[in-house]
Amino acid sequence: MVIFTNLSELQLFLSQQRNEGKTIGLVPTMGALHAGHMSLIKGCKKENDLAICNIYVNPTQFNNASDLQLYPRTLETDCQLLEEAGCDIVFVPSNEIIYPSLPKLRFDFGHLERVMEGKFRPGHFNGVGLIVSKLFHMMQPNRAYFGQKDIQQFLIIRQMVIDLSFNLQLVCCPIMREVDGLAMSSRNTRLTLTQRQQAPVLHQALLKAQKMLFIEGVSDTKQAIHEYFATLADNDLRLEYFEIVDGEDLREVKNVQEHVQVALCIAAYLGEVRLIDNVLLFS
Ligand code: PAJ
Repeated sequence: MVIFTNLSELQLFLSQQRNEGKTIGLVPTMGALHAGHMSLIKGCKKENDLAICNIYVNPTQFNNASDLQLYPRTLETDCQLLEEAGCDIVFVPSNEIIYPSLPKLRFDFGHLERVMEGKFRPGHFNGVGLIVSKLFHMMQPNRAYFGQKDIQQFLIIRQMVIDLSFNLQLVCCPIMREVDGLAMSSRNTRLTLTQRQQAPVLHQALLKAQKMLFIEGVSDTKQAIHEYFATLADNDLRLEYFEIVDGEDLREVKNVQEHVQVALCIAAYLGEVRLIDNVLLFS
């Protein structure tokens, strides 16, 4: 595995590899890697000759300064995990490489960014659009891998790839979970022991909602989930949103039967730590 911090050196290496007919897969990450990221790397390695992991904590997608500051940075163990997973290249760019000047371009993804994460984290998807489009330009991968864990991010990047005619294939990988159902996340390491014990409640709420919608036919599932969280009566746990949306365009779902793919999406705070999760259902 080769670690690059210099963009020109990486680009020279990649163009040589491309000339030899090798295909290139990219997994963009912000580091603090866990088994969820590794599943993307393994998928990438399987489908491409070269697997690149990008590690960069992108400041423009953080709308909260302390979240950016507290974001875990574990480069050494990240590289060990990547090596074990068979990753070929790690790119660790500096802020100067990614943002040589303050970007003036602004993305507007329409309805896709007006709901859920976009609604509660203003500017977040503009930052994601900036970094991901820069990485695509810099590395020109044949394929790029993202997790369903951030389903809204995936749908927005998919739209961006279409609108900007990026010549690559996007792959959406399933959510990796801990044994108690908690979706793996770099932010999980910031949970206290008590918060960690509470955290599976996000996934439990999604399963509960799935049962209400598809088996019990509860008409106001959204309200029922809000009430469920209210009964948990814990100051440390705060539901931010629970949404039932179309899995393609994120429009609100009134009747699940009218949609091919329905996404149940949740965001909640445990103390200062904000967690998200979702399930995708096909009717
Ligand atoms: P990060 O949170 O590091 O996630 C990198 C990728 O790993 C994302 O595509 C995310 O959806 C995926 N991922 C995270 N947790 C996962 C899990 N439990 N199972 C499967 N995949 C999981 O998402 C970002 O970074 C950034 O926004 C980025 C795209 C790198 C742009 O800065």
